[in-house]
Amino acid sequence: MEETNSLQQRLSELEKRNESAMLGGGASRIEKHKQGGRLTARERLDILLDPGSFVEMDRLVSHRCTNFGMDKTIVPGDGVVTGYGRVNGKLVYVSSQDFTVIGGSMSRTQANKICKVMDLALKNGAPFIALNDSGGARIQEGIESLGGYADIFTRNVMASGVIPQITAIMGPCAGGAVYSPSITDFVFMVKNTSYMFVTGPDVIKTVTHEEVTKEDLGGATTHSSKSGVAHFATNDDKHCLLMIRELLSFVPSNNLDDAPALPTKDRPDRLVESLNTLIPDNPKKPYDMLSVITECVDEGYFLEVHKHFAQNIIVGFARFNGRSVGIVANQPSILAGCLNIEASRKAARFIRLCDSFNIPIVSFVDVPGFLPGKDQEWNGIITHGAKLLYAYAEATVPKITVITRKAYGGAYIVMGSKLLRSDVNLAYPSAEIAVMGADGAVSIIFREEIAKAKDPAAERARLTAEYEAKFSNPYVSAELGYTDEVIEPAMTRKRIIDSLEMLKNKRDVMPPKKHGNIPL
Ligand code: HXC
Repeated sequence: MEETNSLQQRLSELEKRNESAMLGGGASRIEKHKQGGRLTARERLDILLDPGSFVEMDRLVSHRCTNFGMDKTIVPGDGVVTGYGRVNGKLVYVSSQDFTVIGGSMSRTQANKICKVMDLALKNGAPFIALNDSGGARIQEGIESLGGYADIFTRNVMASGVIPQITAIMGPCAGGAVYSPSITDFVFMVKNTSYMFVTGPDVIKTVTHEEVTKEDLGGATTHSSKSGVAHFATNDDKHCLLMIRELLSFVPSNNLDDAPALPTKDRPDRLVESLNTLIPDNPKKPYDMLSVITECVDEGYFLEVHKHFAQNIIVGFARFNGRSVGIVANQPSILAGCLNIEASRKAARFIRLCDSFNIPIVSFVDVPGFLPGKDQEWNGIITHGAKLLYAYAEATVPKITVITRKAYGGAYIVMGSKLLRSDVNLAYPSAEIAVMGADGAVSIIFREEIAKAKDPAAERARLTAEYEAKFSNPYVSAELGYTDEVIEPAMTRKRIIDSLEMLKNKRDVMPPKKHGNIPL
């Protein structure tokens, strides 16, 4: 009887401690937090993880700071909930900051908790997901909190390319709270409630006298469309967390696993008749490359990444015959599908992500070239464009490229051409694989002839037609073996799946080196 009592007493002590930790910053702070449209740290984990799968670690850990009366502000757990759970049955490690506890600020203790799960994630080859809601380094702790951040950054770098790392920004994240996310593979933001900035509006006003709102400076719309810092801008917390679950279905748990596959009812040999008429006859007329993608992938489902940033190039995930692939595609309806600085950065990073995690890359090409202009040159299109070239050339995963229309010059080489170690290059009969468009080429090589001609316009038209007949087609490239097959567009899905199947056991390596020196 005595023993039972003592166990009960112990259990009730445990319950009391657990309850105190579960309350975070207390009922009134939680209420204020929720009034702002945000979920609590624990509610977020409930949505992110499979029901009942979450196992919390370090719930009772507390900080040891005594500066500025901090010894009177001790909350078990110290502003972050950490542990592990499952997403669609697959193991993941998580941290979820609790803004109701000292603004979710990063203490030495909080960092230790996060590092503990990051270490486990890396050792066990499972994704790490951070839900961030933090005012940055805990100011009262001084350099101790900076040390904590540094430990997390180091682990982010160590884990990069080994396990997928995903961050969701779910509140106002400032200072140190924004660097770790930008090292991770994907950054999600929530519209109207999340912000990311190194220095906030007040500091900016003091230093540069610029006036800017939090939303304009570092809101989800800004970072998903202007800076490209965020890959996804979501409508609210729930949408954000469900999107993370969705994204995880496309990536393997670590760099040693194959890209995941899901059963599909979409037949691998389905002919896509609509593609036979989708590309306009007039090469100057735009069309929506998204339609080409959705028409041929499994069940028409495409998860677009970086949807609002550099829209002249499309990147994202889809499945062919169940197997996950990364798609990179020029978008002729925006900037005629030209490559510019932002597009090069966006696609290069995505290609490297796919290559890190054994996800085959399928490219759809309709590119007239690099965007000309002073702005592009002065801001380093040479360096940024080279990133894309580098990423394609270095990738050892299966690479399949379909040229739908224009593939001109350097942009042709860059966009997954056979010449950059791509495995299968297919072209539509409408493809124009040439050093440049006929108008431009004729202006350069026949400048004198046109100037001297009795009727320069007629002479230009004649020479343009001659150039088009000779080069504006896929056959010169097919004769040289730079294109493996010219296909009827309706065959696109079937041929991509045939190619992926043929390349299933592809093994390719880079020469041994410490690491390459991609032009950053
Ligand atoms: C300690 C903090 C804190 C911080 C917020 N709090 N940020 N405590 N350290 N970094 C506390 C507040 O004092 C407040 O406590 C509670 O959290 C809620 O914050 P509020 O300001 O009331 O919330 P809100 O109005 O929503 O504003 C959120 C905010 C703001 C925009 C994040 O708190 C803010 O500007 N914080 C400081 C941001 C910052 O400058 N961080 C940089 C730190 S240096 P009470 O008890 O009053 O409710 C850094 C460098 C690292 O991170 C570099 C690494 C490379």
